[in-house]
Amino acid sequence: MAFCLGALRVYRRNASYRNEFADHRKHHTMMRSHYCGQLNESLADQEVTLCGWVHRRRDHGGVIFLDIRDREGLAQVVFDPDRAETFAKADRVRSEYVVKVTGKVRLRPEGARNANMASGAIEVLGYELEVLNEAETPPFPLNEYTDVGEETRLRYRFIDLRRPEMAEKLKLRSRITSSIRRYLDDNGFLDVETPILTRATPEGARDYLVPSRTHAGSFFALPQSPQLFKQLLMVAGFDRYYQIAKCFRDEDLRADRQPEFTQIDIETSFLDEKDIMGITETMVRNLFKEVLDVEFGELPHMSLAEAMRRFGSDKPDLRIPLELVDVEDQLKDVEFKVFAGPANDPKCRVTALRVPGGASMPRKQIDDYTKFVGIYGAKGLAYIKVNERAAGVEGLQSPIVKNIPLDNINVILDRVGAVDGDIVFFGADKARIVSEALGALRIKLGHDLNLFTCEWAPLWVVDFPMFEENDDGSLTAMHHPFTAPKCTPAELEANPAAALSRAYDMVLNGTELGGGSIRIHDKTMQQTVFRVLGISEDEQQEKFGFLLDALKYGAPPHGGLAFGLDRLVMLMTGAQSIREVIAFPKTQSAACVMTQAPGEVDNKSLRELHIRLREQPKAE
Ligand code: AMO
Ligand code: AMP
Repeated sequence: MAFCLGALRVYRRNASYRNEFADHRKHHTMMRSHYCGQLNESLADQEVTLCGWVHRRRDHGGVIFLDIRDREGLAQVVFDPDRAETFAKADRVRSEYVVKVTGKVRLRPEGARNANMASGAIEVLGYELEVLNEAETPPFPLNEYTDVGEETRLRYRFIDLRRPEMAEKLKLRSRITSSIRRYLDDNGFLDVETPILTRATPEGARDYLVPSRTHAGSFFALPQSPQLFKQLLMVAGFDRYYQIAKCFRDEDLRADRQPEFTQIDIETSFLDEKDIMGITETMVRNLFKEVLDVEFGELPHMSLAEAMRRFGSDKPDLRIPLELVDVEDQLKDVEFKVFAGPANDPKCRVTALRVPGGASMPRKQIDDYTKFVGIYGAKGLAYIKVNERAAGVEGLQSPIVKNIPLDNINVILDRVGAVDGDIVFFGADKARIVSEALGALRIKLGHDLNLFTCEWAPLWVVDFPMFEENDDGSLTAMHHPFTAPKCTPAELEANPAAALSRAYDMVLNGTELGGGSIRIHDKTMQQTVFRVLGISEDEQQEKFGFLLDALKYGAPPHGGLAFGLDRLVMLMTGAQSIREVIAFPKTQSAACVMTQAPGEVDNKSLRELHIRLREQPKAE
């Protein structure tokens, strides 16, 4: 106690303390009593203090209306000339000035209520107005809808984020992470942080590298995921881990990919895939109930083979009822080589896609779809318009029916369930091309023809192969090299291409939300997988020696999964891109237009990092 008082006396003599104290009091008097968006009829006749931005200023026959905006919404404040000084101030403010307003809540007259505004039944009669800061005219207006380019929005993200629809998305993101944290905390998961400066963590993308000053010529890699660290935490005995973790991947960007993104990363020991899928499924179910009041039933499970066969995708969008139906058996002996060739080749696929009511599609639309499947490498898009099945070949309109016996056509039409008025599309090529092309066409048709049967369609995709074959015949891990196979090391080595893994993906509305697996906890098995992947003994030691060590010293059986938080938020907010739900995202070319990152580095810093730049070709 004596120490405290003494310390306080010393402090009091200190001028900066007094300033701090004064600032502190000022801060207090600056406090709002309510957020704008929270005002409603129940506060009628009460005095309130608001702090926020001038969203809109209107002059109405001697009265000034200011719409004040804060993160919770808008409130209308009225200034009348009775209070001359305040009125004059209100007359001077402009859009985006930061103000503090004190006034009295009153009900708006019947005809003046605004149903589009949360606080639309009331207004505030302004008594006092303080301008806390002025603002230049913003680069784009916030008080009306304008089509602003994304580059400008990102350049001035701090203004873009003032728009209520952007603020809504970040607020929902925060509710999502807090719901998830609550669930995992309640279920005994420990939140542990893992390093950002680390070694390569192979997840199939390029690494972001950071040069080391203290180790000349050596580089850290930023983690593509916390994969190896979370496994080591299991070896360390933590049993249940989670982390809302930043991951870094230098890959080609798309609407659902960013170079820097966030995972809800989870790992457990002594549980099998059924347990892990159960725990995480319940987490997602609770989340949707809590945040969106949406109820999911139990998620269906589908093998990868079935997903590819029926939907041409490893992340099928089950909201769309269209399905691919294989028809090779009917086309092996036909004259039409475009079909007969692939029908007889086991690496190829010939499949049909029926679109109910599609016979009325104009030629131009079919041409557009033919171009669309071309993006995926399809060389054409054959079709049959079923005008009148009872009329035989006369009732079918198609560039291919003359080349295929009617009996075979009828078997095909029966198999896809075609009735009068339908169109059936066909793809014939390498299996991968056909699946990708018709799988994408299926989604496009679903959107174009508005065929969605429900709002949410989650599922688990299971039974992934361990490996994917590259064009040169070498193998790549389908998930990552730490995923356990369903077979023994000997079986794996004998026929790696046939081995299935203990991996699982959660898919929602055609987006891969998350994926995981049971891991290898046995050193021999891990080395077998490395060997199959063509990683030499030396390279294994050099890159993963620490993991192999850990597997020697009592590694428990373990497994887990990671969800893409940005994708989850994108789907839950209905955003079109994950950039919309990240406060400060990168552009398509992986740059930040606001901070101008990545930026140049001066020669002194480069020298310290033992780096010399190669001469760049001079831009003309
Ligand atoms: P995976 O690589 O499947 O698995 O990633 C898990 C989830 O992260 C999201 N995701 C991305 N989101 C935005 N931008 C990206 N560039 C991006 N890349 C991936 C996806 C994906 O489903 N360590 C394993 C997980 C495990 O086995 O536990 C892993 O990272 O939603
Ligand atoms: P062609 O005989 O090349 O004029 O093609 C006849 C029809 O088959 C056209 O409608 C093409 O779009 C279609 N077609 C061509 N190649 C393929 C293919 N690989 N898969 C599906 N349809 C195709």
